[in-house]
Amino acid sequence: MPSEAPSLQVIGLSASYGDVPAVTDVSLEVRRGEIVTMIGANGAGKSTIIKCICGLLKPVAGTVKLFGEDLRGLTPDRLVKKGLSVVPEGRRLFGKMTLKENLELGAYTRNDPAAVRRDMDRVLTDFPELRDRLSTIAGTFSGGQQQMVAVARAMMSNPRVMMLDEPTIGLAPVVVDRISDLLLKIAKSGVDILVVEQNAEVALSMADRGYILEGGRVIAEDDAKSLSESEEVQKAYLGI
Ligand SMILES: Nc1ncnc2c1ncn2[C@@H]1O[C@H](COP(=O)(O)OP(=O)(O)OP(=O)(O)O)[C@@H](O)[C@H]1O
Ligand SMILES: [Mg+2]
Repeated sequence: MPSEAPSLQVIGLSASYGDVPAVTDVSLEVRRGEIVTMIGANGAGKSTIIKCICGLLKPVAGTVKLFGEDLRGLTPDRLVKKGLSVVPEGRRLFGKMTLKENLELGAYTRNDPAAVRRDMDRVLTDFPELRDRLSTIAGTFSGGQQQMVAVARAMMSNPRVMMLDEPTIGLAPVVVDRISDLLLKIAKSGVDILVVEQNAEVALSMADRGYILEGGRVIAEDDAKSLSESEEVQKAYLGI
């Protein structure tokens, strides 16, 4: 019997800005039920890979597949409809709109208002700290709350796969723990996750598997436990 297609699969991806290569021959996958992390320093190419996967940047070479389907040429909103959701670098909330409006925008590709209302309620159950603040202007939330809003907004498209670009950057440790818990809960609810991080400790503590990215190339991949025990990773990323 053929094995199940990965939820998300990137094969031989290369991308450039003008003539300058940013990512070279990157392959990675997220399998059903997994949280996968991609760890890399500043400028390693993490956001470039995310942008290629979600259709914002056209790769020079390579293939991206969602549940076995080639995504080439699909626009970002088509990808959202197919179940791919992204929490972008820097959150990109609509700072002058209310929390409720931000969440509704997360569901903009959907046309079943009853299901959207149901999902709004489900999301607010997962993020109880947001429930009483629906009419608050998003730009007035703290950094940690804004990150939660960004994750909540991504959940409003009812995704099957979620990608997050450095969701814990700049947040206090207690907020980082809260975000990690939320991601574990989201994964348990059946959403497969690719999370890119500079913070290897946080990333490896929540992930099942990980990839290490340097200079636009994958230099190591393994299960999260083995990566966190590897001397090379400890020296370069964990400060041990
Ligand atoms: N819009 C752009 N124009 C030109 N070069 C870019 C652009 N965006 C990124 N780059 C370059 O591509 C390389 C990869 O950048 P990318 O933003 O993907 O890294 P990153 O791993 O996300 O880094 P960070 O952790 O700082 O977000 C870097 O050398 C960067 O300078
Ligand atoms: Mg980045």
